[in-house]
Amino acid sequence: MTMEQRSYNLCIVGFGNVGRALVRLLQRKSGELRHRYGIEWKITGIAGRSLGWIASSDGLDPDQLLADDLRSRMIPTAQGVRDWLKVSRADVLFESSSLNRHNGQPAIEHIRAALESGAHAISANKGPVVFALPELSELAASQGRRFLYESTVMDGVPVFSLFRETLPAVHVTGFRGILNGTTNVVLAGMEAGLELGQAVRKAQEMGIAESDPSDDLEGWDAAVKVAALTLAVLGHPLRLADIERQGISALDVATVQAARQAGTPYKLVCRAHREGNTVRASVRPERLPLSDPLARIDGGSSCVHFELDMLPGLTLIEHDPGLETTAYGMLADFIRAVSNK
Ligand code: HSE
Repeated sequence: MTMEQRSYNLCIVGFGNVGRALVRLLQRKSGELRHRYGIEWKITGIAGRSLGWIASSDGLDPDQLLADDLRSRMIPTAQGVRDWLKVSRADVLFESSSLNRHNGQPAIEHIRAALESGAHAISANKGPVVFALPELSELAASQGRRFLYESTVMDGVPVFSLFRETLPAVHVTGFRGILNGTTNVVLAGMEAGLELGQAVRKAQEMGIAESDPSDDLEGWDAAVKVAALTLAVLGHPLRLADIERQGISALDVATVQAARQAGTPYKLVCRAHREGNTVRASVRPERLPLSDPLARIDGGSSCVHFELDMLPGLTLIEHDPGLETTAYGMLADFIRAVSNK
């Protein structure tokens, strides 16, 4: 029996490292998408701050989208997000623009527009989760579409879908983890004798630092991830201001090296725990004994340990994620959205 095929028009806003990695992954997995899931796709829109709104309902050539001289080849054809979604006849929007930790915009508006136009919305951007998850989830449900955001925390690791789909009726009481790869790379670099700036450049070369690396160093990225997990997994909204936050920029090389030599290295540790009707959360550098699994999380890897009522504990470790891992979280959301899983 041949599987029924359906073709989807895909649009990507925020066409940087992650957007490009998604195009490469779609190309690599296209046979599997077709044969296993009956999914055909074409990219009908890309957009970015320096690119403008580029749309073609006939489809854009993925190889051209990955070419170095993209900007000189593509001419913006749409005026703003709603026009772009219309011209591209979008079925799915991928939102991978940079985090705005103040209010989540304009990513929230991109997702709202997509859902209102009848497209699914998939975000690798944490802002819309932290600032608008209930509103966007309700809007998606009212439109018969999905708003999914697996890549926002631990890239491709199925942390949100794990609780949503495979652990029904558990009650999560808290978590503790290392959720920011950049600071982990920077601390390791400082342990090896690099100055802060040099260590940051290493993370930038790996493509994991935020566009403004102080969002990593000052603990903002980690705090936004804590807020996203607390809301989606513990069901408790937290403002960023409610999270006790301290970054790593005040640590110097000698202090970081001395802590490592003493067998209690610094890590940027994220914590959230229920306390009565509220949740207490923090992000701060802590010295951890080597017997603590978090102390052994190296490079850009990340780790989270959940406390929950139905299991004595559950720890997820993501080893050495790259851009493809983030893109995979988006691809998995795409399959889930269109397969209605
Ligand atoms: N800047 C983030 C990090 C990217 O270093 O973890 C992944 O969310």
